[in-house]
Amino acid sequence: MSRIAYVNGRYVPHGSASVHIEDRGYQFADGVYEVCEIARGYIVDMPRHLDRLERSLRELRIAWPMGRKALETVIREVVRRNKVTNGLVYMQVTRGVARRDHYFPAADTPPAIVVTAKRTDPRAAAAKAEKGVRVITVPENRWERVDIKSVGLLPNVLARQKAKEAGAVEAWFVDPDGTVKEGASTNAWIVTGEGTLVTRPAESGILKGITRATVMDIAKKHDLRVEERAFTVEEALAAKEAFITAATTVVMPVVAIDGQPVANGHPGSVTLALREAFFDVAEKTLA
Ligand code: PDD
Repeated sequence: MSRIAYVNGRYVPHGSASVHIEDRGYQFADGVYEVCEIARGYIVDMPRHLDRLERSLRELRIAWPMGRKALETVIREVVRRNKVTNGLVYMQVTRGVARRDHYFPAADTPPAIVVTAKRTDPRAAAAKAEKGVRVITVPENRWERVDIKSVGLLPNVLARQKAKEAGAVEAWFVDPDGTVKEGASTNAWIVTGEGTLVTRPAESGILKGITRATVMDIAKKHDLRVEERAFTVEEALAAKEAFITAATTVVMPVVAIDGQPVANGHPGSVTLALREAFFDVAEKTLA
């Protein structure tokens, strides 16, 4: 089956889909993106993802590329045309195409938009969750506006590649004081001996994850305590459980940090229960 992408107003074959060489996303990483999970034919937490897209655009003073309702229609259409039941939908908006110059282009320059979708294998993800994943730690070296979901992801790319080369799947950015910020493409959590979920506050220094917000909804529903505070790598190693969250991984147990086991080195029961409950609690939009 041939994949279809949406590029600036047109549905085009994925293989020949292209943007202009002077797209500001290409030249300056002057753009933002979102990734939504598609599960069992539903787009997961789409309103929250579009709210965050709106915020990222506003923070960078990039205009909406189209009305929000129209974008929702395009997202559903891309998912439908690609016949994705389980997978991911990606959308990217840049400041548009203009002769290279650091200054913003003329105010009437239309933002550029791309929407793509791909399938993922839920059985492979479930098998991964059963075993848990390993993470490494790396020094925080990103800019301070990581609350904006910008396509400028070079530190994240280098960190994740380092993780892969170390036999892990994710890298946690760690501040000089030893506290964990977040993963290169996930939020970081621990579960304490008392069963409290701990994750860093999202006011600054991390991306306010949508999966993170839904996990908080699950915690509320199931009377689990959540503490939004920083935790150190040492505390994570001594914790009962650790896990990461993102649209791409949902809730994924972390069983080792820098080669050291977390607890007994197996996925924790709270983490797996959160993963199990996720789909029921998340907001679902039929694709
Ligand atoms: N990444 N932190 C960072 C730095 C991220 O890039 C992401 C998401 C998250 C989790 O956010 P959410 O729960 O809304 O997916 C946290 C996406 C999936 C990516 O870059 O592919």
